[in-house]
Amino acid sequence: MTERLITAEQTEQTAQPDTALRPLSLAEFVGQGQGRRNLETFIHAARVREDAMDHTLLHGPPGLGKTTMAQIIASELGVGFRATSGPVIARAGDLAALLTNLAPRDVLFIDEIHRLNPAVEEVLYPAMEDGQLDLIIGEGPSARSVRIDLPRFTLVGATTRAGLLTTPLRDRFGIQMRMQFYSAEELVAILTRQAEKLSLPLSADGAAEIAKRSRGTPRVAGRLLRRVRDIALVDGVDTVTATFADGALGRLDVDKKGLDGMDRRYLTSLVEYYGGGPVGVDTLAAVLSEQRDMLEDVIEPYLMQTGLLMRTPRGRCLSQTGWAYLGLTPPKDAAYQLDLLGNNASANGDENA
Ligand SMILES: Nc1ncnc2c1ncn2[C@@H]1O[C@H](COP(=O)(O)OP(=O)(O)OP(=O)(O)O)[C@@H](O)[C@H]1O
Ligand SMILES: [Mg+2]
Repeated sequence: MTERLITAEQTEQTAQPDTALRPLSLAEFVGQGQGRRNLETFIHAARVREDAMDHTLLHGPPGLGKTTMAQIIASELGVGFRATSGPVIARAGDLAALLTNLAPRDVLFIDEIHRLNPAVEEVLYPAMEDGQLDLIIGEGPSARSVRIDLPRFTLVGATTRAGLLTTPLRDRFGIQMRMQFYSAEELVAILTRQAEKLSLPLSADGAAEIAKRSRGTPRVAGRLLRRVRDIALVDGVDTVTATFADGALGRLDVDKKGLDGMDRRYLTSLVEYYGGGPVGVDTLAAVLSEQRDMLEDVIEPYLMQTGLLMRTPRGRCLSQTGWAYLGLTPPKDAAYQLDLLGNNASANGDENA
């Protein structure tokens, strides 16, 4: 797939600035309302008790601040932070090495935790629950099992697909936080702060214009801001106003709703080949020559969040808003208005479905 400017996923190119602009404390972390306030309470309580915080699962679409939040948890707890990711821990021994190297109360961050090898997961259960590591040493008749007591630690797991976690693993997280898309006001606050860090003069309406097109996602907002800044530099513009941002984002093929060519191709294919649906996601993936996972993790969440797309038991279908967005009149028998979709039709979609 060609690289998309508005993709919420981290790309090689953005890895660097991503880290540079990352908020470092809870006070700097914008948004996530009640979820953030709850975390604040749990962090505070753990500090008062001088104990490790409970294991925490952060889940939600890419680019909403899971990794950022994991780092903040460690720094607010005043403990060490070790990061790894599900696919990297190939064998139980790798996990054992990580766990036995933790200092008391440290945070171990496992990104993409839904991609843990089942054998590794088995070892993780007792470690999370009882602070014990059960390992088999040696092979054949001389094999024996040893039990190691671990220091108290906090596992912070992150995943874009909570639905793919096994129940025993999910149940071992005492704290679970679902990251939400950000409101336009929250994105304005994030953009304003980032512009300051970049020493870029950004007007209030300029920030609002970029925020509106950022798909509710801080990573997208940051990326659009940097591209607009490039254009401003080359055009010799000092202050990024709404008019300037609008023109620049138009040149970058990001439309008023924050959709790019790929999103529009998804929606138009749905209409051209399937009359607006319903159609299965595998079929759409084949038509678009994309991976099903990519559609489900990256493209669809935002299309559903903006109400353009509906996920139903019979497949994907274009909503009334979706038809209007494409400037088309839906046929009389358009899927969205028929009862054949069942009552489970949802405009928000359920990532666990
Ligand atoms: N609440 C926030 N306030 C300010 N900036 C944020 C916030 N959340 C995320 N960001 C910015 O967005 C970028 C992406 O955040 P982060 O890498 O934490 O997302 P993620 O959820 O871990 O994504 P992925 O699922 O791809 O791992 C970071 O550069 C960070 O600076
Ligand atoms: Mg991350």
